[in-house]
Amino acid sequence: MEPLEIAPGVYDVGVIDWNIRDFHGYSTDVGTTYNSFLIVDDKIALLDTVKKEFADQLLANISAVVDPKKIDYVISNHTELDHSGGLARVMHRVGEDKPLYCSKMGHKNLPRHFARNWNYQPVETGQELSLGKKTLSFLETRMVHWPDSMFTYLKEDKILFSSDGFGQHFAGPERFDDQIGEAIMVHAKKYFANILLLYVPLIKKYLQTVIDSGMEFKMICPDHGVIWRSDPTKIINAYVKWCQQEPQKKAVVIYDTMWHSTEKMAEAIAAGINKEGVPAKPLHLRKWHRSEIMTEVFDARAVVVGGPTLNNGLFPSLADFLCYMKGLKPLNKIGAVFGSYGWSGESTKIIAKELEAMKFDMIDPGLKVQYVPDKDGLEQCYEYGRKIGKAVNE
Ligand code: FEO
Repeated sequence: MEPLEIAPGVYDVGVIDWNIRDFHGYSTDVGTTYNSFLIVDDKIALLDTVKKEFADQLLANISAVVDPKKIDYVISNHTELDHSGGLARVMHRVGEDKPLYCSKMGHKNLPRHFARNWNYQPVETGQELSLGKKTLSFLETRMVHWPDSMFTYLKEDKILFSSDGFGQHFAGPERFDDQIGEAIMVHAKKYFANILLLYVPLIKKYLQTVIDSGMEFKMICPDHGVIWRSDPTKIINAYVKWCQQEPQKKAVVIYDTMWHSTEKMAEAIAAGINKEGVPAKPLHLRKWHRSEIMTEVFDARAVVVGGPTLNNGLFPSLADFLCYMKGLKPLNKIGAVFGSYGWSGESTKIIAKELEAMKFDMIDPGLKVQYVPDKDGLEQCYEYGRKIGKAVNE
């Protein structure tokens, strides 16, 4: 994409990754962007770079505004390689001796990615950097998304550069939230549910710091997706709400199946839940991507998980998803398990143990049906669904 002046002297010089579909296990169905910002004042600063393979595009974008050699300061808000991969190439062009600002943790982490003796300038919360008429202020935001993460605030223009915070994996010709409307919130929510959920305790703390500071925002510029311009407090308020993890009256029925028996059970259970006025849909683990399912889990009250027994254990897709969900630490869930089995039937016990380890409030030991569920078996599933629906309604 071409550089865009988003405020006087402030340019979005990032790149679009139209074709990425798997971002370390997250389904980026519409691609993503790696945003980078150039601030031209008496001094010139570059905030963040891009993935390594896009470094030349970034440099071309910068060159359309200024000669990269004229950049005085480079700021790394986050070490992860989607934002620092292009750093070596950029520093080579900008000048290897130019000051490189990062958090104290960034100062530890960047050298572990790049064997270069750059001119590191570690900063801490509250420290400022004057560019002349404009001033940058730093805020360490450890674990949003890595220990090195920080936000940078451009005081005079009231622009927050929030790194991964408030991001969305979204690629499009649109550069601002108001060009998309409400539809962008779906991407922001998916990002929160799959990348930031486990760090909710820390995110709450930073949000409170920002709210208490009375800091005003004309724009919030994350490193992925569109810039929040129409009403930046909207995404802040959404984060405050999402951090509360208050579930909706909703259930998800997540399953895999060998010969369609557990599938039949899942559909009958979902129908029973729906009968109680609780929206529920069956989600087949090999038809839905784990990150889509996790987004559904995020605001559901009941998480119902089913699978057949394979080799006395779990189906691989179940093991994958349970591991993924466990890592993200969703809260305030009712859990239930089910599955078809042939002879040993361990899967429901194993799934239940995993959900208990996630502190889900389990309804009961679960429902098992041997081989193919007949009319009575499906009736049991339907009634089990009603029981789950009632628990959600309590
Ligand atoms: Fe977009 Fe944690 O990197």
